[in-house]
Amino acid sequence: MLKYFLFIVAYLLGSIPSGVWIGKLFYQTDIRKHGSGNTGTTNTFRVLGKKAGIAVLFIDILKGTLATLLPQIFHIQNINPLWYGVAAILGHTFPIFANFKGGKAVATSAGMLLGYQPLFFIYSCFIFIICLYCTSMVSLSSMIAAVLITLSTIFLPNICPLILPNHSWLLTVIAIAVSVFIFYRHKDNIQRILSGTENKVPFGLRKKK
Ligand code: G3P
Repeated sequence: MLKYFLFIVAYLLGSIPSGVWIGKLFYQTDIRKHGSGNTGTTNTFRVLGKKAGIAVLFIDILKGTLATLLPQIFHIQNINPLWYGVAAILGHTFPIFANFKGGKAVATSAGMLLGYQPLFFIYSCFIFIICLYCTSMVSLSSMIAAVLITLSTIFLPNICPLILPNHSWLLTVIAIAVSVFIFYRHKDNIQRILSGTENKVPFGLRKKK
């Protein structure tokens, strides 16, 4: 029974709309009405600045991590912790506390990896930073990194077992599903990338001037 209840807890954790709440509480600003309108880290940086952006990034990652650690915290066995991470990702994108309109699944998915395998999370962050350096676009980097991280779930256990010791088909299947979902959530960004109007960040080879 507890293991099903914890799914609800994981969903509720993911549902915490950090960007919306921080914006309203500390800046009297609804970030959904500014910038890209997204509730995630990138738009928080864009609209509210560095401090708020870092706070939202930290909280959104933490939501995925805590949810993934729930079975360990409550000594639940016979269930893969990744499922709780998935519940948090769903909460993050369809938050009950913000009219079911949430973020694009990137930071909370990263948090799930941190709870599952910390070294694989660090590796994934490197992949993302390299993509960001090459493109200067968070959206494009998120999508490319999602594909590369998914491929890594297959090949890394053979190439570098220190980072990802065991091959898990469930991890790969969830990574594929999350990647497809991330692409879907970035459909507006994809249109902007194709038309050359996507927002850039002041970092990397093509940085915003
Ligand atoms: O994680 C969201 C990011 O990839 C794009 O955000 O605000 O530029 O649409 P945004």
